Amino acid sequence: MKITIKTPDEIKKMRVAGKLAAEVLEMIGQYVVPGVTTDELDKICHDYIVNVQKAIPACLNYNGFPKSICTSVNHQVCHGIPGPKKLKEGDIVNIDVTVIKDEYHGDTSKMFTVGKPSILAERLIRVTLEAMYLGIKEIKPGRHLGDIGAAIQTYAEANRFTIVREYCGHGIGKIFHEAPNVLHYGKPGTGEKILPGMIFTVEPMVNAGQRFVKLLPDKWTVVTKDHSLSAQWEHTILVTDDGYEVLTKRSEETI
Ligand code: MF3
Ligand code: CO
Ligand code: CO
Repeated sequence: MKITIKTPDEIKKMRVAGKLAAEVLEMIGQYVVPGVTTDELDKICHDYIVNVQKAIPACLNYNGFPKSICTSVNHQVCHGIPGPKKLKEGDIVNIDVTVIKDEYHGDTSKMFTVGKPSILAERLIRVTLEAMYLGIKEIKPGRHLGDIGAAIQTYAEANRFTIVREYCGHGIGKIFHEAPNVLHYGKPGTGEKILPGMIFTVEPMVNAGQRFVKLLPDKWTVVTKDHSLSAQWEHTILVTDDGYEVLTKRSEETI
């Protein structure tokens, strides 16, 4: 499929959806404490999206996914299913939220720490965030998608971490996952040319150990093969005439 260029009216709606997704992450932080279950976090997000935002949690029933958010803990890479297990001191957890408002999607995720994380976990989370920002800063008309991946890969690997290759960022709009695939590794100058009005996500998954992953028997949860820690951050990005706009920016961010 071809990459769509969003119209001004679609961009307006994507700004709204992006802001709502960001606000869910801002709201949920206070609840990510030792003893809370990921099911409880899912219910709080679900109720907030449905009752306060009057929006739709896009993950619920998406290809059969049973919950409203993804919660990926420690060596879980992505698509973790909320459940009855309690978070404990030292855990790290990615919460990935996608909302639909007025037919358009906003998709974003953030790492949370439960109590005090290990030095390694803290470094992994920081390097992954910095890698995502470096990738996003490559975005402007005339650049190539490979420039994003190259920036992310170079930085993560310089810090002795590895990039998961099996999952990538994606175009987004009325459709949750559309063209293009946005790889988090690659070579500068390769891939599709970036044009104004494109909207896609950047969502690198970075492992502290080897890059390899496996799918759990639940058919959703992706974990590192070597059980090393993994981190991920995600933003939905609009390509503007001279650069980018982060549609899912939180108030704590300056990018
Ligand atoms: N939000 C994820 C992404 O970034 C997709 C989750 S799909 C689900 O693309 F079904 F697992 F929720
Ligand atoms: Co996404
Ligand atoms: Co997401």
